[in-house]
Amino acid sequence: MATKPGLSLFWRTFVLLALLLLGSVIAWTQTLRELESEPRAIQTARQIASLVNLSRAAVMHTDSITQVSLFKTMKDQEHVVIMPREPNDVVQTLKNDEINRYMTDELKARLGPTTLIAEQVNGVPGLWIGFDINRDHFWLQTDRSRFDQPAAKTWLIWLSTAATLSLFGAALMARLINRPLKDLSFAARQVREGDFEASRLDETVTTSEIRAVNIGFNRMTQKLAKIEEDRAVMLAGISHDLRTPLARLRLETELSVNDVEARENMANDIAQLDAIINKFLDYARPGQINLSPLALAPIIELCLSTLRKRPELELKVAIEPKLMVLVDPVELQRVITNLIENAARYGQSANTGIARVEISARRMDNTLLLRVRDHGPGVPEDQLKQLTTPFFRGEAARTAANGTGLGLAIVQKIVSRMGGTLELGNASSGGLCANIRLQLAEAS
Ligand SMILES: Nc1ncnc2c1ncn2[C@@H]1O[C@H](COP(=O)(O)OP(=O)(O)OP(=O)(O)O)[C@@H](O)[C@H]1O
Ligand SMILES: [Mg+2]
Repeated sequence: MATKPGLSLFWRTFVLLALLLLGSVIAWTQTLRELESEPRAIQTARQIASLVNLSRAAVMHTDSITQVSLFKTMKDQEHVVIMPREPNDVVQTLKNDEINRYMTDELKARLGPTTLIAEQVNGVPGLWIGFDINRDHFWLQTDRSRFDQPAAKTWLIWLSTAATLSLFGAALMARLINRPLKDLSFAARQVREGDFEASRLDETVTTSEIRAVNIGFNRMTQKLAKIEEDRAVMLAGISHDLRTPLARLRLETELSVNDVEARENMANDIAQLDAIINKFLDYARPGQINLSPLALAPIIELCLSTLRKRPELELKVAIEPKLMVLVDPVELQRVITNLIENAARYGQSANTGIARVEISARRMDNTLLLRVRDHGPGVPEDQLKQLTTPFFRGEAARTAANGTGLGLAIVQKIVSRMGGTLELGNASSGGLCANIRLQLAEAS
């Protein structure tokens, strides 16, 4: 089943929070700029007005010879140029933005309504103020940047600091929300794999809602573990108790039934009952497992040696040499036997009645891939997921009397206890294919 692609919760929360915070930073910046533009324009206008007034006073109270050196000093030291204004000067007035409007109004209020303000005269850029002394017209030319505060740069620094902090905060919040969910999903996976111990969640977290969820989850897990344990104990108890009367029954049948055919049938039935009880005991066995690094090929060979004698089985083995795995050899043999047993039962070719089984093992992405497949009819796709459910049996199996539906549940349980995974699927050319991944051991 294809999983729906999507943004992880972390990124979704992060992007939303980041957009929200950045949006609000930009809105605030704009608001502050608006609020600050009028006072700034007025302050600039005042400075310009006093410069013009000082220049006017200096021009008025000096003679024309002194004026030359005065203008030179002003130009050199203050970058202020005073020059006569001609009627045919080409004037480009200020851009009509908010700050300029505030500034023009303030300058006109201070220097008189006829004051001219331009940003370029005869193609020379600058801040140009036209003023009159008696009948003479003058330009005062200076540099606009003298009055503008280094605002743009400061704003930019603050803005980027705020943006960085916002992104950092958004990441922190997203992580805070995401973390408990991630822990919960991990714990749920552990429970699904039957590891009730590792699924314990922290019951001391500060956030009360998350604490409540964690406590609830832990109680639920404990209950599930108890149910699972009770079931295993009950199954083991019943099976164990059945064994003694069954052994007695077998003996009594041998001794007291005279009809050979009836005796054989009864012996078969008793053997079948015995096999079922063994499966129950296998399933209910407590989960102790001893992993050790071993060579894979001999374990499999040992297990196949008895199965090779069966006429309805045709076994083909392909194991990469020198493969070392971390396994419990007895449990691994139980896994292989169960799978081959199934292949012999359900994986026979329709025409020959022989089950061809291929067992292969190779290294793959630092794990061991052990594959057991047959060439039978396989399993309908919609049933694949249920195969490892205890007591599940397929249509074909139900008509036959033998089988408990525990084989694959046992396989799944053993593989996951050995730290591996089991995947069941239909091979493209037909037949059930079991892919088992196990841990590789370092070859010493
Ligand atoms: N190789 C296979 N080919 C087709 N169907 C299979 C194969 N292996 C298993 N199945 C189906 O999966 C079902 C479950 O298998 P499982 O081994 O768990 O139980 P079982 O074989 O019926 O009983 P048990 O193994 O406990 O004696 C089987 O009943 C069968 O329908
Ligand atoms: Mg089986």
